[in-house]
Amino acid sequence: MKLTKILMAGILSVTIASANETLNNSMNIMQQGIEEVQFGFINHNEEIIRKGIEAIKKGNTMFSDEALIKQSLPSDKKHMVNVASNAAKRITEDAKNMEAYLNAKAYVKATEVYSDMLNACSTCHSIVRSW
Ligand code: HEC
Repeated sequence: MKLTKILMAGILSVTIASANETLNNSMNIMQQGIEEVQFGFINHNEEIIRKGIEAIKKGNTMFSDEALIKQSLPSDKKHMVNVASNAAKRITEDAKNMEAYLNAKAYVKATEVYSDMLNACSTCHSIVRSW
């Protein structure tokens, strides 16, 4: 019985640790993507912008699962999962729109979407970090 409990606790902490690792990985991929997009806009390098958007989409896939979003929120912020989830959805939408504007060579419009995306990052971080 005791052993079972210890084992269960062990498994649980490994699960939590790997969830944190997934979160940090996803965030770091998105961070890298955001930096590439910014670099690309400033240097007018469309290839780097598109590479960055791909990274952001990849990093954001973890948040297509609302349960994972809830899990990554602090215990006193779980009730704000909808706001956090909407921020993640906005990032997905923004990525699509940015690509559409790039295809249309509407670069200024694409940078507006980029700003909205940064704002979506901060919206979720403001919940997580109690800004
Ligand atoms: C749905 C919520 C949510 C969204 C949207 C979100 N993040 Fe995060 N982010 C988190 C959580 C939770 C943490 C971990 C807690 C912390 O660092 O405050 C985090 C942490 C981070 C970190 C620190 C990672 C580390 O290794 O410590 C970076 C970098 C980051 N996010 C980048 C981004 C970028 C860039 C975007 C937008 C493209 C973004 N995040 C959007 C929830 C989110």
